[in-house]
Amino acid sequence: MTPLADDIDRGTPASLAERTVSLVVDGTRVEVPEGTSIMRAASMAGFQVPKLCATDSLQSFGSCRLCLVEIDGRPGTPASCTTPVLQGMIVRTQTERLKKLRRGVMELYISDHPLDCLTCAANGDCELQDMAGAVGLRDVRYGYNGENHLADTKDESNPYFTYDPAKCIVCSRCVRACEEVQGTFALTIGGRGFESRVAASADVPFLESECVSCGACVQACPTATLIEKTVIEIGTPERSIQTTCAYCGVGCTFNAEMRGDEVVRMTPSKSGKANSGHSCIKGRFAWGYAQHKDRILKPMLRASIDDPWQEVTWDEAIAHTASEFKRIQAKYGRTSVGGITSSRCTNEETFLVQKMVRAAFGNNNVDTCARVCHSPTGYGLKTTFGTSAGTQDFVSVEKADVIVVIGANPTDGHPVFASRMKKRLREGAKLIVIDPRRIDLVHMPHVDADYHLALSPGTNVAVLTAMAHVIVTEGLTNEAFIRERCEADAYEEWKAFVADPSHSPEATEAATGVPAASVRGAARLYARPGNSAIFYGLGVTEHSQGTTAVMAIANLAMVTGNIGREGVGVNPLRGQNNVQGSCDMGSFPHELSGYRHISDAPTRALFEAAWGVHLDDEPGLRIPNMLDAAVDGHFKGLYVQGEDIAQSDPDTKHVVGGLKAMECVVVQDLFLNETANYAHVFLPGSTFLEKDGTFTNAERRIQRVRKTMAPKNGYADWEITLLLSKALGFEMPYTHPSEIMREVAALTPTFAGVTYEKLDALGSIQWPCNDAAPEGTPVMHRAAFARGKGLFVLTEYVATDEKVGPRFPLLLTTGRILSQYNVGAQTRRTANSLWHQEDRLEIHPHDAEQRGITEGSWVKLASRAGATTLRALLTDRVAPGVVYTTFHHPDTQANVVTSDYSDWATNCPEYKVTAVQVSPSNGPTQWQVEYEAHSEKSRHIRHAEAVPAE
Ligand code: SF4
Ligand code: SF4
Ligand code: SF4
Ligand code: FES
Repeated sequence: MTPLADDIDRGTPASLAERTVSLVVDGTRVEVPEGTSIMRAASMAGFQVPKLCATDSLQSFGSCRLCLVEIDGRPGTPASCTTPVLQGMIVRTQTERLKKLRRGVMELYISDHPLDCLTCAANGDCELQDMAGAVGLRDVRYGYNGENHLADTKDESNPYFTYDPAKCIVCSRCVRACEEVQGTFALTIGGRGFESRVAASADVPFLESECVSCGACVQACPTATLIEKTVIEIGTPERSIQTTCAYCGVGCTFNAEMRGDEVVRMTPSKSGKANSGHSCIKGRFAWGYAQHKDRILKPMLRASIDDPWQEVTWDEAIAHTASEFKRIQAKYGRTSVGGITSSRCTNEETFLVQKMVRAAFGNNNVDTCARVCHSPTGYGLKTTFGTSAGTQDFVSVEKADVIVVIGANPTDGHPVFASRMKKRLREGAKLIVIDPRRIDLVHMPHVDADYHLALSPGTNVAVLTAMAHVIVTEGLTNEAFIRERCEADAYEEWKAFVADPSHSPEATEAATGVPAASVRGAARLYARPGNSAIFYGLGVTEHSQGTTAVMAIANLAMVTGNIGREGVGVNPLRGQNNVQGSCDMGSFPHELSGYRHISDAPTRALFEAAWGVHLDDEPGLRIPNMLDAAVDGHFKGLYVQGEDIAQSDPDTKHVVGGLKAMECVVVQDLFLNETANYAHVFLPGSTFLEKDGTFTNAERRIQRVRKTMAPKNGYADWEITLLLSKALGFEMPYTHPSEIMREVAALTPTFAGVTYEKLDALGSIQWPCNDAAPEGTPVMHRAAFARGKGLFVLTEYVATDEKVGPRFPLLLTTGRILSQYNVGAQTRRTANSLWHQEDRLEIHPHDAEQRGITEGSWVKLASRAGATTLRALLTDRVAPGVVYTTFHHPDTQANVVTSDYSDWATNCPEYKVTAVQVSPSNGPTQWQVEYEAHSEKSRHIRHAEAVPAE
């Protein structure tokens, strides 16, 4: 495969120096930044110096001695990877002496290497093989019968890659990748001299080690020692298509490497601005779900949710669905139906669903799964700053001096960004973690939080306001910034509010559980001169005061002037790949694309003219309102694209009650998910590998998704929405997603300059992208806030109504883990399940002992909403009084327990605080038994070929 231009390995990392030096390499003059290695300078001049231990994602190491060069006026043959350029240097890389020396080095390597190139899985994609060719090695003088490692045993424990020590050249690239790129420090070179070999943790199999399967070592390995199992099974790739990961909001760029129509592997692209060549286990390895046997590839219908599914043709499915929606609207009214867009689908697909709902259904009953995660971010940041989005790009963290992580667990939820953050922390940045649970960042190799404020769940606002109290009362405010950039009256009012003694750390300590001295210390650290950046997640938003907490974070950034430049800012870490995009595209019932209110007549007129329809000026129903209305009998039909509300939304019994009350539930997804158990129409969806489009990551970065193969189900998701809309009587004549983006750009000022051509040329674009910022905006609010002046908002702490008491004395909080993703529909259908076969309930040993609960025993987890059973995991990661679980497995039914309390402004559910009791279990609850029985029945499919001919 020819490498993409930006994927050429120049041997050592780029120097960021501004001053340049000029030198001559093999007769060619080249000008490079000061601090560049000779190896990199030579590469930039067009000469690739042979190398083995060097690669440009890692600092130079200088161990293989293959990259020797000659320098005029210097004795010897220094290694070009470790020698920096100097002004006026004259370098030769290809003399006869150098060639001879390099051949000698290669002879030694090859004499202890299997001679099976022709049958090796890496044949044609191996740097050792390439280098042997490059140095002209024809024979080995020492023979092949000396002492060697050829009989060493392979480690095949990891499901995704093998380690074959017989092929190892002990270049340490894997060890350094694990340290420098991933920051896990799982590998070492054990033994000395001839005995040297790579060891995972304390020399245990990879699967049992601390390795998190990010793939960085595999990527770095120049031989077939560490190699993807799919390459061994399928063969070396023949071509590569650049696309974007479909998992989390980091938005890593990958090269889908193909052989024929089959994906061989996904390798992270160095040109990806969000990931700079790094990956995590999900994007790198967990893409096999796309071919999983559970995938539904034919449309299906059924009259009742108790019937088996019946496979039908696409024509039948679409005609039936359209006639059902029309029937329901004729009988129950225009507003009796709605749709849910997906944060897993592309921007273009999301735009189409909301357009279909508004134009074809004729109402604004459209919402998105962002409702249940980051809707408070939208409301909170729009109110304070004027834009519903994070303020920075990821690379900005490399300039942060103090990093605050609140209610987020980046090493599990946003692993590639976490690696970037950990690198900055290893360089000396300070860290404040605000989280009820001791997340990994609090203490891990070479990273220790300066403060861990282990607050009681539900008290973010009290802690954040107490930090503001310290900043204001101790004179740590940035008055010059505030005077110039913020609304003065609101600031004065806010200042008096937070200065009130009732908001001091001492006054709030009893409620938050955080020692006042720690809050004071953290506030002083955040407010000190330099760059302080805040990163937050669903542990901030998924509360009854989620929006208030977002605004409290924005207040902290404004009062200290930590906004509007690199290294600072307010950064929501988005859960799913396209949460930002689905919000941008107008998925909320009250907003058209670009966050413009549906009641705004000029905006509506713009869309009405473009679409040729009349738009309702009243906001439609949010997801919880749709379900309430269904239970009340007013809402009867729902089109759900790529979301599983029966598993992911809170208070499962209520969700199921709402779904059961509807007459036509249409689920469009890859698999028969939990919501499909209550659906009447199933439209098979397509994977990200099967379509074109764009995703927008947590940095507002719009990136291309490129089709690598035809949709196995027959249609990409956007095409299915087109078919349905046409059948409903509203035709949308697009032939390619680029045309949809053209329409988005024409109708949305922040996207005005976005085109597929520009995306292809630049790689990605961070909105706003318009005449003022034709190539996008990495850092927002530089000279002024999007709303003009920043607005301080009062953040009175109001304790949630979800209170502990004698019946429910513990607080449950929920989260996710590295190997699984959201409801697990994709990752559970990959080998990732090896790391997380079930959701467990984390409980402090003290609470467990009081209840007679032992490690691994089954427990009943009960709240006011319902009860479920799962197994216990005893750990002091959680404080006494707090329990924690994930919700990746449907059997866990974690959301049977969560309540219907929600954020006051946006209805984002309060997933993070549920009063519960935990007790030894007597077996599954009645609800679980009935639910599972229905699910089992609901998976029966009558295949088309089994239907007797009429
Ligand atoms: S896969 Fe990642 S975590 Fe595991 S050893 Fe390799 S670099 Fe380290
Ligand atoms: S496993 Fe690969 S990267 Fe690691 S030391 Fe061996 S050859 Fe080098
Ligand atoms: S960090 Fe997120 S976007 Fe990147 S590979 Fe992992 S799941 Fe995909
Ligand atoms: S590449 Fe320079 S010493 Fe190995």
